[in-house]
Order: sequence, then structure tokens, then C-alpha cells
Amino acid sequence: MAALIPISSLLLLLLSSAVPAPASAFATALDPSLMGINLRKEKLSHFRFYWHDVLSGPKPTSVRVVTPPSNTSATGFGLVNIIDNPLTLLPDPSSKLVGRAQGFYTSASQEELALLMVMNFAFVTGKYNGSGITVMGRNPIFNKVREMPVISGCGLFRFARGYAQASTHTVDLKTGDAVVEYNVYVLHY
Ligand SMILES: *[C@@H]1O[C@H](CO)[C@@H](O)[C@H](O)[C@H]1NC(C)=O
Ligand SMILES: *[C@@H]1O[C@H](CO)[C@@H](O)[C@H](O)[C@H]1NC(C)=O
Repeated sequence: MAALIPISSLLLLLLSSAVPAPASAFATALDPSLMGINLRKEKLSHFRFYWHDVLSGPKPTSVRVVTPPSNTSATGFGLVNIIDNPLTLLPDPSSKLVGRAQGFYTSASQEELALLMVMNFAFVTGKYNGSGITVMGRNPIFNKVREMPVISGCGLFRFARGYAQASTHTVDLKTGDAVVEYNVYVLHY
């Protein structure tokens, strides 16, 4: 096959990755600068906000979609909540909305109360509006600080990596409603 490709176009491909990929190319090496990415200019950003898990009231943002049998474990092993939780600047739920945490959590431990969190932080504020980061990790909710990986993001957070630290601010033991402080550290371009 190689013999069929003219030498000149091979040279061009070698000299410049700006050459558009032929329609038949499955994988192509790209120059990051063509996508506005400078690999030497990775930024570290810190975000702090409060995550509101609202189970009670007329408009819950966290809905139990799987309830395991109560006699199989003391940790609710297998439960699943789908969330669209507001993220606000301050613990007060009526403070400025900076985004929403959309995804789910599930009880994934039979020994202690440890959740598996899978959620996108979809930001709605300032230049971050429309950009988001994706968190997936283990959340043993009775620990003071729980750390979960930021596995990537979109928009301003393309190629992002980092971690989130969660610490419970308040829990209403009657309703289960919780306010959790998140500190997120993200490397991105
Ligand atoms: C749990 O309760 C269900 C329904 O009463 C019963 O069928 C099941 O055998 C129980 N399981 C255990 C582990 O006790
Ligand atoms: C965020 O973006 C959406 C969609 O583009 C737009 O409707 C909304 O007004 C923006 N919000 C802010 C606070 O800029």
C-alpha cells in the first residue's frame, strides 16, 4: 500500500502535522497548538463550592431510584440516587448558584457507608458557564475529608485532571438532606 502513496505527500505529512487528515485516516498525530493548547502552560485552578443533596420537600434534587432490601445490609448496599444537585458559592442554598452536580451515587460497600460518586459538575457562572468537570470516586461519607479523582472535563477543562475533596458541612438527620463543601483542584489548559 505504501508504494501507492506519492513520496511528496509522505514528506508533507512528515514535515507538518497541520496537513488535514485524509478522509480515510483513523488515527492522526496532531500539533496541540492547532487546537489552541500549549502543553507548557498547564494551569492549576482551585474551586470551592457547596453541594446540596436535597432529598426532602416538594422539589428534591436527589432521587432514590433503587432501594435495596433493608434486611440484606446495614449500609444500604446497592442503593442508587440520581442527582441534579445545586452547587452554590456559600453553604446557604439561596446563595449564588455556580453550577449543578449531575449524575448518581450508589452505596458500594457492605462494611461501611461508602458511596461510589459519578457526577459532572456543570458550571453556569462567568467564563466557566458551559464547561464542566467529571468526578468519579469513593466517598466514605463519615470521614472528615473524602478525596475523589477528577477524571477529566469539557470546554475549558478539556484534558483536565485533578482531585476533589469533600467534607460534610451539615446533615439533617431527619430528612437526610446534606450540605457538603467541595474543594476541587484541577490542572487544565
Ligand atoms: C429479606 O426479606 C425478604 C422479604 O421478606 C426475604 O424474602 C429474604 O429472604 C430476606 N433476606 C435475608 C437475607 O434475610
Ligand atoms: C450560560 O449559558 C447559557 C447557554 O449558552 C445561557 O443561556 C445563560 O444565560 C448563561 N448564563 C450566564 C450566567 O452567563
